[in-house]
Amino acid sequence: MDHNTAYAICALNDIPSQRAIGFHLMIVGDDGAPRPWPIVIVRWGKQVFGYLNRCPHGGVNLDWERNQFLDGNGTRLLCGKHGATFELGTGHCVDGPCKGESLTPIALAVLDGDICVTGVRLVEEDDEAAREEA
Ligand code: FES
Repeated sequence: MDHNTAYAICALNDIPSQRAIGFHLMIVGDDGAPRPWPIVIVRWGKQVFGYLNRCPHGGVNLDWERNQFLDGNGTRLLCGKHGATFELGTGHCVDGPCKGESLTPIALAVLDGDICVTGVRLVEEDDEAAREEA
């Protein structure tokens, strides 16, 4: 399986600096079956950080209001359910019920001004269309 492909998710400039946006993607699992892959991408200047949109404590998505990922100061990711906070650059939980645990990091690269995910196989729209026709 080719895990070296980089999939463009959005342009770097689609995410304002110091903001986070969620994406509902689908990946091809090891068994070949598609499965949902919700992620959150944080931009800080020219840097981007990606994590699975899943709180390590409750296993739920972080943004209880869609795309509200950051705490009041805008300097940490926040789980909207019980208020765990996570460092933007490491995903490390610094406060809340999962203190000491971490968000699952996602490998990202910025290529030609696009934020790309690497290391996974995404279900692309064409695959989906092909399956629907089959
Ligand atoms: S589910 Fe995330 S802090 Fe409880």
